[in-house]
Amino acid sequence: MLNISVELTKNPKQKPTDETKLGFGHIFTDHMFVMNYDAGMGWHDPRIIPYQSLQLDPAAMCLHYSQEVFEGMKAYRTADGTIQLFRPDENFKRLNVSNQRVCIPPIDVDDCIQAVKELVVVDQDWVPHTDGTSLYIRPFIIATDAHVGVQAGNHYLFIIILSPVGAYYPTGMDPVSIYVESKYARTVKGGTGVAKTGGNYAASLIAQEEAHEQGYTQVLWLDGATHQYVEEVGTMNVFFVIGDEVVTPALEGSILSGITRKSSVQILKDWGYKVSERRLPIAEVVEAYQNGNLKEVFGTGTAAVISPVGKLKVGDLVMDINGGKIGPITQRLYDELTGIQWGKIADRFGWIQKVTQ
Ligand code: COI
Repeated sequence: MLNISVELTKNPKQKPTDETKLGFGHIFTDHMFVMNYDAGMGWHDPRIIPYQSLQLDPAAMCLHYSQEVFEGMKAYRTADGTIQLFRPDENFKRLNVSNQRVCIPPIDVDDCIQAVKELVVVDQDWVPHTDGTSLYIRPFIIATDAHVGVQAGNHYLFIIILSPVGAYYPTGMDPVSIYVESKYARTVKGGTGVAKTGGNYAASLIAQEEAHEQGYTQVLWLDGATHQYVEEVGTMNVFFVIGDEVVTPALEGSILSGITRKSSVQILKDWGYKVSERRLPIAEVVEAYQNGNLKEVFGTGTAAVISPVGKLKVGDLVMDINGGKIGPITQRLYDELTGIQWGKIADRFGWIQKVTQ
C-alpha cells in the first residue's frame, strides 16, 4: 500500500463547458501522479501534484532510445454519479509485460491501481457526465538517466495523467475505412509488438499518414515476416465475422494483448458465438468477401471501444463491409461492453472496480 502525498493546485483550470466537443486527448486535468524509481531504492516517493511540465535532462535516456512504456484505461461516470474503472488490474499486468520487454523494473499492480483511484478521486469533477464520454487515464514510465550510451536505465519516473474524452475517431461510431498495409511492417515475432511502448507507434505513423492522404482512417497490419496473416489495426485489435464464426488473430508474440479484445472474446463466447483466436490469412478474408461470407469487421480498444469497419481495401480490391453500416454483432457488443463500463448493465464478469461509492 502506497502512502501518497497530495499537493492540490492553487490554480484550477477551466473545465470543458461543452462535453459533446471533447474529442480525444487534448485536455488534461488539474493533477498528476508521479513516483520515482532509483536503482537500490526501488519505487518511492509517490505523490499527487498539480499538472505541470517535466524537467528532464536533455540527455534523458527516454528521449534518445525510447525506453518508455504506457497504458490506456478509462474512468466512467454512471447514471447515479459514481465513478468506476474497467479491469484496471489487466492494464497494470500488461504494463509489467511491456516493462519486461524494454528492461524497465516491474511495478506493483495494486500500487498502480491505488494511485489511479486516488488521482481520479482528486480530479473527480473532471469525469464527464455526457453519454459516450469518459476520463482517459494514461499511466506511463520513462527512463530519466542522463546518459547517451545505450543501456537500460537506473532511474525512472512513473506518471499518470488524465484527460476527459469523447470518441477516439472524429466520425464517432460511424464505420471507419482501413486498408491493408503492404509496404511497411509494424513488428515481427520477437520484436516489441507485444509491448505498449512508444516506438511501436512512431514506427506506424508513416503508414497512418499515407492512409489519411488516401482518405482512410488507419491501416490493417499483416505479420511483418510474410505479409500474409492479419495482425492488428493502428490503435485497435481486429475481429472478422466470417459466416457464423467470429475470428480474431491469435496472440502469437507480435500482437498487443488488448483488454477490450479479451473482454469481447469472453462476452461473445458467453453469448454462444463460435469465437476463434487463430491465424487468419488475409486471403481467407478476401475469399470470404467474394463468397458473401464476410459479414462484419470491427476493431476493439480502450480508446476506440468497439469500432465498426465499413470499408476494407486489400490491394486494388475495395470491400464494402455490411453495406458500410454497423453490423448486428458489432452493435450488440458495443452496447454490452459500454453498458457494463457505464454501469447500465450488471457486471456479471466482475470487471468493474468502484472509485467513488
Ligand atoms: C488505447 O486504446 O488506450 C490506446 O492506447 C490507443 C492509443 C495509442 C490511443
